[in-house]
This record gives sequence, C-alpha cells and structure tokens, in this order.
Amino acid sequence: MAAIVIDGKAVAAKVKEDAKARAAGLREGGIIPCLAVLLVGEDPASLSYVSAKEQALAEAGMASKDIRLPREITEEELIARIAGFNADPAIHGILVQLPLPGHIREDAVIAAIDPAKDVDGFHPVSAGNLLLGRPGFIPCTPAGVVFLLRELGIPTAGAHAVVVGRSNIVGRPLANLLTRRDINATVTICHTGTVDLARHVREADILIAAAGKPALITAEMVREGAAVIDVGVNRVADPQAKKGYRLRGDVDFGPVAEKAAYITPVPGGVGPLTIAMLLQNVVDACRRQTSVCP
Ligand code: GUN
Repeated sequence: MAAIVIDGKAVAAKVKEDAKARAAGLREGGIIPCLAVLLVGEDPASLSYVSAKEQALAEAGMASKDIRLPREITEEELIARIAGFNADPAIHGILVQLPLPGHIREDAVIAAIDPAKDVDGFHPVSAGNLLLGRPGFIPCTPAGVVFLLRELGIPTAGAHAVVVGRSNIVGRPLANLLTRRDINATVTICHTGTVDLARHVREADILIAAAGKPALITAEMVREGAAVIDVGVNRVADPQAKKGYRLRGDVDFGPVAEKAAYITPVPGGVGPLTIAMLLQNVVDACRRQTSVCP
C-alpha cells in the first residue's frame, strides 16, 4: 500500500481563512486581535518559527508585537515584561517562544502568563483544564493533529493511538486530548523509558511521532494501513542543501509511506496546522477578553 500524503498546508488554509473571517468581524467593531511574541536569544529555528507565526497573523488581519530580548536577560526581567503584557488591554495573547536559555526557568515564565492570554495552552491552568475536560486553551500542535484526523475522516473512536514522546508541548496534551469522549481513542504513550518501542508502535492504528529524533520510526515498526502523523522537525546536516541542513521528521518517510494508509510529510504536514491553531486561539482570546463572546 502507498500512503495518502496529507497536505497540511491545504488543511491549514481552511482554518486560517476561518480565523481571518472571525478577526475581520472583530475589526469591524474596532478591535484588532494582537499577540505579543517574545523571543529570547537568537536560536535560528526559534527565529524562523516566530517569523512564520507573525507573518500568519498579519495575513489573517491580526497584529503582533514582536519582542526580541537578549540571551542574557534575567528571569525577573522576562517575567516583568510578561506582567506588562498581562496588564495591557490591547494585548490579547502572549507567546514566549521555547526553549529558553538554561538560566531561565521555563515553568516560572509560563506560570507568569495570565491564563486568559495563554494562547499556547502551556500554563498549568490550561493544562489542568485540558486534563479535566473543561474548556480552555489547547496547545496548538495537539489541536492541529486532532483537527487533521477529523478533517481527513480518520476514525479515532476505539482506535489505538500510540503517542511517541511525552513533552509538555505535544505528547502529554495530545495523549490527553485523544481520550476525550468525542475522539475516544485508546492511548499508549511511549517515551525514553519505554522498553521495546517497536512492539508498542506496531500496535498503533494511529501513530503520532513527537520524540524529536530523526527517523526514529522505521517501516518495520509500523503496522500496514496505519495513519502516521509526524510531529518531529529535526535539522539534519546536509552539505548538498543551500542552508547546510535539511528538515527531517521523526519518521523514516519513504519506507513508512509504502506501508501506512496516511502519512504527514515534514515539512508541510503538522507544522502549518500548528500555526493555524495559534491564529484561532488568538481570536478566541480576543473575543473572550473583549466580551464579544463568553
Ligand atoms: N517551541 C516549540 N514549539 C513551540 C510552541 O508551540 N510554542 C512556543 N511558545 N514555543 C515552542
């Protein structure tokens, strides 16, 4: 079997159009949804993610406040900047690009964001709401993965979903989301402590690779006809490439595509959905803060 290669860009375009229309409605009432984007240091991957997010906001008729901070900034200074945006009614969302330099505690920084403006869905209040099945911001990549599965009509109810990776950004929230009643998957989470990863992965109807290890998932590990969602974005050295590297997912794409029913490419799979979901979260945050909706 040769897999259907999922066009994440095309699916994301629909979501972005919807966010754009909702933002236009807000603008008619004189409100411009605005996201504060804080980037500490000059990590090239983070720089490119941040630019992509800001460009998408602009294309959807929303504003962003681009805050570039030196690597040496202290945790206190960074938290003070966040406090300023928490108090600013013209800012509806706050995004601190991760990872942060080692001298800054990510937990402390995330906890400093007003949960009402936590469009990344990383604050403990958002994480708690997700865990308890209450409404709240859902992290963008997990939301994008679930949207993709729905949009493509990949059955989730009763399916066995195997999530490889337990990060706070993807693996943990996604595993939780997949157990919601309206999705109803049975979930296994694999991580670096898992013994015999291949045995678990082979059981997956839906496999989500979010480990951050290039080509970790090989064809021998994948069940014939599985839906394979690759969240990994790894830069691997490639002297032939213009930039000296190329992007590789966590899945060994070519051979796995021969076996799977569906597969997402890297780039062009999950990434565009992540950005599209961020736009939706910014519109939602703005609507709630400006009392356009509850
Ligand atoms: N670093 C990698 N992914 C993300 C994300 O979704 N949000 C933020 N803030 N940082 C990230």
